[in-house]
Amino acid sequence: MIPRHLAVIMDGNGRWAKKRLLPRSAGHYAGMKRMISLSEHAFERGVEYVTLYALSTENLSRPKEELDCLFDLFRKYFRENTERLVGQGIRLRIAGDRDLLPNDIVEIMREGEARTAGGKRGTLVLAIGYGGRQELLRAVNLAVTAGKQLTEEEFSSLLYTAGMPAPDLLIRTGKEKRLSNFLLWQCAYTEFYFSDKMFPAFTNADLDRAFENFGERERRYGKV
Ligand code: FPP
Repeated sequence: MIPRHLAVIMDGNGRWAKKRLLPRSAGHYAGMKRMISLSEHAFERGVEYVTLYALSTENLSRPKEELDCLFDLFRKYFRENTERLVGQGIRLRIAGDRDLLPNDIVEIMREGEARTAGGKRGTLVLAIGYGGRQELLRAVNLAVTAGKQLTEEEFSSLLYTAGMPAPDLLIRTGKEKRLSNFLLWQCAYTEFYFSDKMFPAFTNADLDRAFENFGERERRYGKV
């Protein structure tokens, strides 16, 4: 079965590279290539929302060399893919704290969102400088400033994912089985799928297998 909203924790780029005696940067580059193909495949299969964890708030304390490599990849990604997304009818949204990112990246992200805003076929959310707890705290502070008690819907509208349905399926590659501060509020009833494969090795066929497995789940949302 095809989830309406698919979220992916793209873990294992570094280990994939290490196993091949390559620098971590090569793993991230391979991860970016895989990410492009995988998200296109997901939209072709009928997924409406794809949310990808590209950089967490915690990842921002990695060594400068690795961060510079990731920032360069983001620049390359937006430069080379924005028009492609426009052509595919995919709207781009960025989730995260932009104050934590270099100014030029904030600007190209803003341009990317503006250029793709008319996309009707699907929405690609890139979580960059994203932390679930930080997102919740930001929403709470907005609510406090507004000075009134909120409903779940009103609270959801203060999150980066405002207006989007919650993820139906969350895939984490790279063997680890944890949420790592990703979409803490949104994943309340999300189905989880873990793969031992490192992200650059997680193929489109692997994604199809995850969808099949998702189809076998019985979602009860706490009811009987
Ligand atoms: C975690 O695996 C992955 C990341 C911190 C970066 C994810 C980035 C990409 C997939 C590519 C670039 C993204 C965009 C939006 C262009 P890790 O490298 O920490 O793996 P490890 O646990 O094996 O070290």
